Amino acid sequence: MKIDVTKRTGGQADSAVDKALADLIRVSNLVGRDPALVQGGGGNTSVKTSDGKYMYIKASGTALKDMSETRGWRRMHLDSVLAIIKDKAITKLQAQTREVEVVNRLLLACDDNVTGGARPSVEAHLHGLLDKCVIHLHPSAVSAYLNAKDGKAKLEKLFRGEKIQPLWVPYVDPGFTLARKISKLVEDYRQQFKRMPRVLFLDKHGLFVTAPTAGATLRLVRQVIERCGAALRPPAATRTSPPDRDQIRTAAFCVRKAVFEATGTYCPVTYTDDRMVAGFERCADAKKLLSCGALTPDELVYSNGPALWVDRCDAGAIAKRLSAQIHEGRKPAAAFLVKDVGLFIAGTDKIAQTIRDIVAYSLFIRANARRMGGIRTLTRAEQTFINEWESEAFRMKLVSGESQGELKNRIAVVTGAGSGLGRSIAAGLAKAGALVALTDIDQKAAQETADIIFRAKSKGQAKVIRCDVTNEDSVRETFEELLAQWGGLDILVNAAGIAPPYALVDMPVDKWRMALEVNLTGYLLMAREAARIMIAQGMGGSIINLSSKSGLDASKNNTAYNATKAGELHMARGWALELGEHGIRVNCIAPGNVFEGSKIWNPEYIKVCAKKNGIKPQEVIPFYVNKTALRREIKGQDIADAVVFLCSDKARTITGQTLVADSGQVMVR
Ligand SMILES: NC(=O)c1ccc[n+]([C@@H]2O[C@H](COP(=O)([O-])OP(=O)(O)OC[C@H]3O[C@@H](n4cnc5c(N)ncnc54)[C@H](O)[C@@H]3O)[C@@H](O)[C@H]2O)c1
Ligand SMILES: [Zn+2]
Repeated sequence: MKIDVTKRTGGQADSAVDKALADLIRVSNLVGRDPALVQGGGGNTSVKTSDGKYMYIKASGTALKDMSETRGWRRMHLDSVLAIIKDKAITKLQAQTREVEVVNRLLLACDDNVTGGARPSVEAHLHGLLDKCVIHLHPSAVSAYLNAKDGKAKLEKLFRGEKIQPLWVPYVDPGFTLARKISKLVEDYRQQFKRMPRVLFLDKHGLFVTAPTAGATLRLVRQVIERCGAALRPPAATRTSPPDRDQIRTAAFCVRKAVFEATGTYCPVTYTDDRMVAGFERCADAKKLLSCGALTPDELVYSNGPALWVDRCDAGAIAKRLSAQIHEGRKPAAAFLVKDVGLFIAGTDKIAQTIRDIVAYSLFIRANARRMGGIRTLTRAEQTFINEWESEAFRMKLVSGESQGELKNRIAVVTGAGSGLGRSIAAGLAKAGALVALTDIDQKAAQETADIIFRAKSKGQAKVIRCDVTNEDSVRETFEELLAQWGGLDILVNAAGIAPPYALVDMPVDKWRMALEVNLTGYLLMAREAARIMIAQGMGGSIINLSSKSGLDASKNNTAYNATKAGELHMARGWALELGEHGIRVNCIAPGNVFEGSKIWNPEYIKVCAKKNGIKPQEVIPFYVNKTALRREIKGQDIADAVVFLCSDKARTITGQTLVADSGQVMVR
């Protein structure tokens, strides 16, 4: 989204308008950064201009804390916003069509120079009905009451002496129906009390607080939270024996496999344990507290309902439960509370934090609501409305052309990712949707690769991990870091290699040994660790050894390289035999000469090649290109494409093979 700040007020200097925006940003940032007020990112804010013409409101897709003068808001014509609620024609539309129409109308009511399609909050019409400044939140301190059987009565008691009585809003479907309902209730309230309400409690949803100034609204929201929160407490307790590394690993593998079996999709899994999680688990009825459906639209939409209680790590049994949820037309759970271990979230880095926050929020509410007569969740019909609303939004996203990526969310490790082919392959995997650990001894170079992937706006993600492939401890730590980040492994690409260019008669033995260390021992150590993990996961996998055409066809002055590159091919064949029964495929790629970005093709190496072929250094590249049948220079992308193919399901019957990607220089014998 881009905003031309100078044009914000339609070219006219208007201090009322500027003040309203400044107030909105200040209120939003203060509220958004206060963990007592915002959990799981929900909530929105608005401020109307003093002339009553405009309303500045938070835009969807930006967190309150991240809003700024140039980001995260829209300015709307107040009259047009209010006209939507009054429009009788809209009420006649079928529910999902109606909500799409309302969003379009809200967009049409925007009057600013914001480009890039940021939508005003879907609760904008509610804000339009209230006083000048509005803060809407879903705070756990309030939701504990809004989701409890005796919650309404308790709130009434808490606020009994107040001069301005809170307005209670019974649950109705969010969106247009809720706006109409509130419009009616506010009108009734006005009739009864001859004034506007200040505090609105929305059943199973959240809190609206409104006042004529930003300062008064802020003070009020804090008072409400403080009063509601005073009687609540988190289910905090520590574990008597904390889980060990293997328990956590096994549980993560189990969750990941269950999601894969039930949905056919790959998903990273992250682990959390804290006092809230451990404390909740200690509740004698923890399992029951989680078995009663979603509390709020947020919980339904972001974590697909409450965390699934897992007594025992059995992927098949969990998969069955997830399949049953899908069968009932629900989205499968994204959070798993594993007894005696902790909380596991299935979701990419982008949403995992939100899901974790929502789960913590839900555990707090559930543990407290049970002390207020029991938990009240969304009914089947209420859930169906939200699910359909969501699937409509999802369908529109699909229509907008967002493709999934061939290796979506598969977890990959690439060695030597800081340069040349390792870099190109890592970028290619990320482009295909994989989550890629970029490992190299040169961490700075690997970070540059991460920056390239980030700038390319790849579908996947990248994480830099320093690794010396020749060192057992370093290799082990690399995979530990990877598992802590994403909880599994699907792909290993061995690419870190060296090529000491010496004639046999000149070969220094230390250079020879170094090549054996990196090109053979390094490949072995990485594959050994990867295979152990993949076997334990039971989800198959793909290992690629980046060999070379020199592994098939020896070249001069290249003893160590010829030997090790041939060794990599043969190691892969043996591994393919050993690992086949676990569904793990092992293949090699033998690239021809790839000059682009390679440190192997350094000026010294080029000189050696020039000398052995009796040509000038600048003639080396065309010389080698001319040796190929296609007369085509091979680029990093060409090799990356071959790797993506071999790692994908399209290569499902290919194992123990060598794919020669050399523009036709070496015909395999
Ligand atoms: N470039 C080519 O023409 C070509 C052709 C065929 C095969 N290959 C193979 O591709 C692979 C990469 O070649 P390149 O040309 O991109 O090389 P490169 O030198 O540009 O990149 C190799 C990377 O490996 C890293 N590395 C070296 N030792 C390491 C260690 N012990 N632990 C971790 N990382 C280490 C380096 O820091 C570097 O970032 C090699 O295995 C090579 O044999 C290259
Ligand atoms: Zn809301």
